[in-house]
Amino acid sequence: MKVNGTPYRTIWSDPQGEVVAIIDQTRLPHEFVIAHLRSLDDAARAIRTMQVRGAPLIGATAAFGVMLGMNKDASDTGLEYACTVLAATRPTAINLHWALERMRTRLAPLPARARAAEARREAAVICEEDVATNRMLGNHGLKLVRDISEKKSGPVNLLTHCNAGWLATVDWGTALAPVFFAHDAGISVHVWVDETRPRNQGALTAWELAVQGVPHTVIVDNAGGHLMQQGKVDLVIVGTDRTTGNGDVVNKIGTYLKALAARDNKVPFYVAAPSSSIDWPADDGSQISIEKRDDAEVSEVRGRSASGSMGSVRIYPETCPVANPAFDVTPARLVTALITERGMCPASKEGLAGLFPEKA
Ligand code: MRU
Repeated sequence: MKVNGTPYRTIWSDPQGEVVAIIDQTRLPHEFVIAHLRSLDDAARAIRTMQVRGAPLIGATAAFGVMLGMNKDASDTGLEYACTVLAATRPTAINLHWALERMRTRLAPLPARARAAEARREAAVICEEDVATNRMLGNHGLKLVRDISEKKSGPVNLLTHCNAGWLATVDWGTALAPVFFAHDAGISVHVWVDETRPRNQGALTAWELAVQGVPHTVIVDNAGGHLMQQGKVDLVIVGTDRTTGNGDVVNKIGTYLKALAARDNKVPFYVAAPSSSIDWPADDGSQISIEKRDDAEVSEVRGRSASGSMGSVRIYPETCPVANPAFDVTPARLVTALITERGMCPASKEGLAGLFPEKA
């Protein structure tokens, strides 16, 4: 996507595979800063601290992290160490494990001297595949948006939660790809952007939409149900960090409540789910490890002061107990359909098997 006329992806490597560049998402929406990763530890820290985030981008960063690890130690021990360090960064997004497994499978049979170059090549392939996948998601989702636009006057009002736009992927995004495609096709769209406490990924979504000129409004996390009752939401599209074999959707905390409100108000609830986010062997969402993040994300809010400096303010006293589960499970029965790169399907074992028979 373009930022001030310059095309960017969220991650890229120099031709030698020595330095990986990322957009530092902890600085957005106030500052657009490119950061550089030079080691396995840099890559692991970038994932853990959410300089990069979003399931597909976490996967791509892990692949580049293995590459950086191979530059230092490409032995069998080095490969295992790199995969172990990266796997421990964040537990929920399955793309992390998907990418590491792919790197391990590709690199393990090779002699150590060939591994760094092959890691660079494979990480680049993972990135290209992600971009192509998101284009397909965008095209399938575009049909949905177009259908709604043809049946109503005025803009199609979508609601989305967290950030599943291009910042969460290598490019285009998952849930937001249909929005960008619809906007580019001249369809009038307006996006209700959930703020998504505590990390406020809605600010990233709003930034992305503003940069592309897509009309949008940020709302607090509790406003979505009210807007649905008022008939102000035509459809919900969210992303997923992990969708289990039966179609349960693990996504950013608060997604479940949006799905409940959507069901009660007969608003269709779609999940953009690339196959790299599907945990085929997992029977249902209850089996998935839900990341619990630092209490400080709840008890403090980060932002820019009137003087322009970045900082945090405490909103609860240090003695106040808080909890910070980062994801929740939306049962498959609340999902209208999954949007995958191979098309749309019911959120069920049978639905997924119809599109991905080789995984059934
Ligand atoms: O904690 P994050 O910001 O990495 O979580 C990302 C999400 O939960 C997004 O909603 C998204 O759906 C998954 S990435 C397309």
